[in-house]
Amino acid sequence: MIRPAKIRGKSSNAIHSESSRPKFRSLALILLVAASAVAWQSPSTFDWHLPSGFHAPPVPADNPMSPAKVELGRYLFYDPRLSVNGEGSCSTCHMQKYGFTDQRPVAIGVTGQSHPRRVMPLANVAWFAVFNWANPAVTQLEDQSTTPLFNNHPVELGLNEQSDKFLHTIATDPIYAKLFPQAFPGDPGPYTFAHIRKALAAFERTIISGNSPYDRFRYRHESNAISESARRGEDIFFHQPYSCSRCHGGFTFGGTTIYQTTDGAHGIEFVSNGLYNLPGPHSYPEDNLGLYEHTHNPADIGKFRPPSLRNVSVRAPYMHDGSMRTLDDVLDHYARGGTKNPSQSPTIQGFTLTPQQRADLKAFLESLTDENFLNNPAFANPWPIRSPD
Ligand code: HEC
Ligand code: HEC
Repeated sequence: MIRPAKIRGKSSNAIHSESSRPKFRSLALILLVAASAVAWQSPSTFDWHLPSGFHAPPVPADNPMSPAKVELGRYLFYDPRLSVNGEGSCSTCHMQKYGFTDQRPVAIGVTGQSHPRRVMPLANVAWFAVFNWANPAVTQLEDQSTTPLFNNHPVELGLNEQSDKFLHTIATDPIYAKLFPQAFPGDPGPYTFAHIRKALAAFERTIISGNSPYDRFRYRHESNAISESARRGEDIFFHQPYSCSRCHGGFTFGGTTIYQTTDGAHGIEFVSNGLYNLPGPHSYPEDNLGLYEHTHNPADIGKFRPPSLRNVSVRAPYMHDGSMRTLDDVLDHYARGGTKNPSQSPTIQGFTLTPQQRADLKAFLESLTDENFLNNPAFANPWPIRSPD
């Protein structure tokens, strides 16, 4: 079998199964080569605490990492005052114990409005080339947070970008009055949303998962870190006709990543795994047409980013609309070969799984659960727990 050779690669995002890589490319799912306007910071001195084999992620030059900024971002991520009614924060939807997702099929904002899509996991976001389920325009973590912070349709946190009282809160709160100047030294007016977004991004870049039993087995050569069954499941995952790694590849198990390249150029892939084949003009439900909503190309209906499969066993329900309750539902879907809608990837052809093979593949997926990550105090709520009054 083809083993994942190395994590340090210059431009390859699929370290696994290198020989299948050209074929994957030839599917030409979509390749947007963005000669990005972003200038990346040269390798910084920041201590990432990287799992062995991981390379440092790229960081935009105008938002260098620092421990103070990361700490500020963590306080913000967990602060319910960062919402229109004090009812929620980033962490209300992105909960550490569920791999920074929640257990709802679709997200619910602080005023009770439903989002059309499910909360996404945050592990290893520092390396993703593009953010959200199917939006090729969002390529920076610093920009991604404007949607949850300020969006009205639907409201997620519901802040007012121009004049929110939260800016007053941070200027007067004793913790922030200390942290903001430390994070943005020498800046005479550090209490701005631009800085809030930068600090959140710095914290998010540290949310790194790479200590699962599978990592220990595969990259740290701890031969007993995963079961025999999970080892057989690894073989299934990386081989035809199952071909999971074709889309859920690389060290993120989530498709396209960016590496520390000098020009920041990268390719981005979106794909339909054949969730729906509805009658009517679009084969997918109207509120979730995937990449098509941005390109208006009918071939892009139902194309989404393959999500990372790290910590997948604690992240049910699955898919962009939470329509699958369990990993068995997901495997049933791939085994039957999707729905054969017009834009479905030809890689998804269907296969049979014996009960043993199914158990093996599930054992492999479960071996991607990183308990260190799910319980790491560095990613947890830093605020003192308030006693109920
Ligand atoms: C109401 C629930 C909710 C809240 C609150 C929320 N998010 Fe999200 N988050 C989502 C949903 C839903 C998505 C997927 C969005 C989409 O595809 O349209 C998402 C996606 C993301 C992503 C993209 C991950 C990836 O791999 O592409 C990041 C990063 C993120 N959120 C960070 C944040 C931050 C930072 C905050 C706080 C400022 C926040 N979120 C608040 C629901 C929420
Ligand atoms: C052709 C690309 C492709 C292949 C091959 C593929 N997937 Fe996926 N997978 C996707 C996409 C795209 C999604 C998200 C689809 C959506 O939400 O509409 C997804 C979603 C998932 C999810 C849900 C993750 C979450 O966070 O909601 C799981 C689990 C999953 N796939 C497992 C597998 C397994 C196991 C295999 C092999 C049997 C596999 N995939 C093969 C593209 C693929």
